[in-house]
Amino acid sequence: MLRSCGFVAASAARAFSRHVNAASSVPQRVSLAESDHLLSVDWKDGHSSAYPLVWLLDNCPSRINSGNGQRVGRLTRRELRLRAASVSLEKGRLVVRWENGELSVFPVDWLRRHCFSPTSRHAFVSDHADDAKLWDADRIRRELFTCAFADVIADDAVLFRLLFNLDNVGICLIKEAPKTEGQLARLCARVGFVRETHYGTYFTVKSKENPNNNAYTSSALDLHVDLPQITRTPDFQFLHCITQAGEGGENCFVDGFRVAQVLRDKYPDDYYLLTTTKLQYTDRGCEPDTGLLFHNTTMRCPIELASNGDVKRVYINNHTRSSFIDADPKKILRVYEAWTRFYDLSYEARHLFRIKLTSGDVICFKNSRVLHGREAFTGRSAIERHLQGCYMDEDVVRSKLLSIRDAVSNKQQVDNQAAA
Ligand SMILES: [Fe+2]
Repeated sequence: MLRSCGFVAASAARAFSRHVNAASSVPQRVSLAESDHLLSVDWKDGHSSAYPLVWLLDNCPSRINSGNGQRVGRLTRRELRLRAASVSLEKGRLVVRWENGELSVFPVDWLRRHCFSPTSRHAFVSDHADDAKLWDADRIRRELFTCAFADVIADDAVLFRLLFNLDNVGICLIKEAPKTEGQLARLCARVGFVRETHYGTYFTVKSKENPNNNAYTSSALDLHVDLPQITRTPDFQFLHCITQAGEGGENCFVDGFRVAQVLRDKYPDDYYLLTTTKLQYTDRGCEPDTGLLFHNTTMRCPIELASNGDVKRVYINNHTRSSFIDADPKKILRVYEAWTRFYDLSYEARHLFRIKLTSGDVICFKNSRVLHGREAFTGRSAIERHLQGCYMDEDVVRSKLLSIRDAVSNKQQVDNQAAA
């Protein structure tokens, strides 16, 4: 029996319940505050919502294409201060009659979901953006979301939980995939489309002669994220273990967001340096299969922050870090100390999640957050070690999540009612 990740299952349920509870709200009273150009709704649960009139007019269902959900036309300057002649609640819908004769009818559950209160706005945003659950080695060993390949292929509910965990926790394991190339194509076709790079759409990880990447040797690989040297660094990575080495070849993963958090709390000066100092990442070479020359270069901070100060991405890769550091020479030693500190923290046993993939495993992880590495592999079977990999973009994963969320949620409710 394959197990699932408890703390994330609870998060998924919260996401569902937020969606369902919003739809159950009942309006009690509606009024106009003309001087503020606002319409107020008092709800049965005691909450009050204020909606700008201009925003209501802009989002009038008659101005939205019901087929594709896209806005039709745009407000004119004259319409920005258009007044409402009357407002009323009719058959559970909000009806606004505008002074130019236009009529707008809003479903009340839609209104409640789009309330402008700080709490509601936060819930709306977190339903559509990162809600990262940080982990250390013990936690992810206990709670790693794990499912069977056949279930992901056949069941949208399993696919949803896989992608939800992948997006929020950053790592998942799929077991029992067929031990042949081409399985990632089947998996990715369930989600959307693959992110192609100069390594191709699907790349094979094997020991090669004259390798153009350290991954194509039998050597150990330091913890890293892939491809920080390209501007649009891939967001997710999938590795399918087709044949494992007899000795060595163990993979290791670290939650880069968790390490960044520890760095921020215990070594704030190092955190400051890694969030403000730009390093250069570079990779150049020739793809042997296609003859394609490539030369990629970026300048970026190893820890990238979002506008609210949260860690947005980590770009940690000692293999492709070039010699250029955009800092005063007197600061360089401190930058090296901060960089080394990040690695030292990452390799602490409490952070390092080790797992030796077996044939048929697909490890899926968030390349924008989770560092990965591997032990060297040796022995006669080393040459046989064979993985296939690919990348996928965040937009593709989140698009699929949102596309199947309602159907999965509705089916879950029907199943629960049938079981009750
Ligand atoms: Fe890698």
